[in-house]
Amino acid sequence: MAELQDKVAIVTGAASGIGQATARRFAEEGARVVLADIEDEMGRQLAHDLGAEASYVHADVASEAEVEAMVAHAVATFGGLDVIYNNAGFSGVTGGIEEIPADGWAHTMDVLLKGVYFGMKHAAKAMKARGGGAIVSTASIAGITTGISAPHVYNVAKAGVIHMTKSVAVELGPHGIRVNCVCPGFIATPIFARSLGMPSQMAQGTVETIRPLFDDLQPIRRAGRPEDIAEAVLWLASEKAGFVTGHALVVDGGVTAGTKWEPSSERARMLKEAMGAED
Ligand SMILES: NC(=O)c1ccc[n+]([C@@H]2O[C@H](COP(=O)([O-])OP(=O)(O)OC[C@H]3O[C@@H](n4cnc5c(N)ncnc54)[C@H](O)[C@@H]3O)[C@@H](O)[C@H]2O)c1
Repeated sequence: MAELQDKVAIVTGAASGIGQATARRFAEEGARVVLADIEDEMGRQLAHDLGAEASYVHADVASEAEVEAMVAHAVATFGGLDVIYNNAGFSGVTGGIEEIPADGWAHTMDVLLKGVYFGMKHAAKAMKARGGGAIVSTASIAGITTGISAPHVYNVAKAGVIHMTKSVAVELGPHGIRVNCVCPGFIATPIFARSLGMPSQMAQGTVETIRPLFDDLQPIRRAGRPEDIAEAVLWLASEKAGFVTGHALVVDGGVTAGTKWEPSSERARMLKEAMGAED
């Protein structure tokens, strides 16, 4: 049987990248999917592609009223809520600690952390009415290590998503609601072009360009794909992960495992030279 047969799922940030791949995967596995985003044209197009079992709703995750309305839309359209994937995100404010403006800090946290809190809060109410459910959120390896040079506020917000996942899992477990998150590594999506100010529609065309740039960043020598994350999210959302809660699932091709010391590298040659070793 399909993994999410007749389940009702919400995916935020569904118009692009990881959210889009996950919404497609959920639909393939029999779910009725509410697609939420602020990119209305792209979101409506995806709903159209997925057919009658999908519905698009505009929801800025930084707005509690819009997140509450998004959950109400799922309940009104498909009769309840079983799964929410809190995925919407962006790179947020950048700059050194002396440069980050307070309003940039606030807006970045509103989207990346408060948005997840709003999603958990309103989904929990709907899931309790149903007798259980699964909450999955997108954190990042940036929430585990600062070694990948993501911006400060992004790092902090994603660490917050991981910790909130564990905290809320403890509360909601007895209600049959599992709460987990994924920590993607370098995934080739339009987020990088969008962070440089490119409009979303145009940014979609940059994925093929950035993919080769990520090929050798991790022990698994290829860039991450949105489908890699979608598969992990599907598992966490499904009954196959029925005893898994409070977990941050790293899907990064081994970035956080470390980098192998290459004996033939330029750095190794320099080290040998500094030690006075013969080649
Ligand atoms: N791509 C990566 O390498 C990577 C790595 C780790 C984590 N992530 C996280 O994965 C998630 C998805 O990113 P992606 O790479 O697919 O990027 P993406 O730009 O392709 O997709 C992000 C989607 O979120 C939507 N969005 C942005 N702000 C929103 C808001 N306030 N309300 C509702 N929707 C909003 C965008 O319109 C877009 O459709 C993000 O949370 C991101 O931080 C990405």
